[in-house]
Amino acid sequence: MEQIVAENVSKYYTVPPEKGGRNHERLQVLTNVSFRVERNEFVSILGPSGCGKSTLLRMLAGLDRDYEGTIRMEDVDLKKNRVPVCYMLQKDHLLPWRTLMENVLLPAEIEGADLKKEAEAVRPMLREFGLEEFENYRPHALSGGMRQRAALLRTYRMRGDIMLLDEPFGALDEITRMQMQDWLLDVWGKHRKTVVFVTHNIEEAILLSDRVLVMSPRPGTIVKDIRIDFQRPRNRDMLLGSQFLGYKKDILASLG
Ligand SMILES: Nc1ncnc2c1ncn2[C@@H]1O[C@H](COP(=O)(O)OP(=O)(O)O)[C@@H](O)[C@H]1O
Ligand SMILES: [Mg+2]
Repeated sequence: MEQIVAENVSKYYTVPPEKGGRNHERLQVLTNVSFRVERNEFVSILGPSGCGKSTLLRMLAGLDRDYEGTIRMEDVDLKKNRVPVCYMLQKDHLLPWRTLMENVLLPAEIEGADLKKEAEAVRPMLREFGLEEFENYRPHALSGGMRQRAALLRTYRMRGDIMLLDEPFGALDEITRMQMQDWLLDVWGKHRKTVVFVTHNIEEAILLSDRVLVMSPRPGTIVKDIRIDFQRPRNRDMLLGSQFLGYKKDILASLG
């Protein structure tokens, strides 16, 4: 059974009039977005800036219920109920006055969970996330890649089987970004959750995903659903072959 089912989702924002104007304008951001995601699938949503990707992800997180159509997650209608998900915004949003560990413990703290127990569960994961020996550092003393991994670890520790990641590597330099992609392939192989990964980077989408959903410019809709058949475990060498170029060509053609 599918874990996420979106059917004919459309979304409008009401934009206040410019100075001197009178009428509120209705801005259509999404039109008839439909897709399904299976349990433990890694699906990327790829589309141009402004096409509504972040808007869509906010809806999947249950933070925006003002839309047409339906989204069901674990068979729950998101307009009626919430499903816990691990949601990460593009910015790392680490709290600067907290140490790395205190930041990772934040979701547990909010839920009133046993922090000592949670810290014990987190500690062995620090190594995998490349953060060993840094648990008492504050964010400003970490590199961009480390901050992003800390934010990913915090997201991973949130309650829920679905990770929603909004351009998690968007702000990183190209080399760090490549390292983070390789690293994500590796950890995701070990700790699978369902992932919906928003990006505007074509290579990244192909490298990481089981499927790439390509969106049109605003009002965004899904124009192509491409299955990426590379075997796992994957590595960057796939990006040199003709199969990769075939996918890239396909995506570029559907981006128009
Ligand atoms: N709260 C809001 N009110 C009005 N317009 C918004 C709001 N949030 C986003 N938008 C507009 O909706 C469109 C899609 O935004 P967004 O979902 O952030 O796109 P993307 O993440 O694909 O770049 C943009 O034109 C943006 O300006
Ligand atoms: Mg966005």
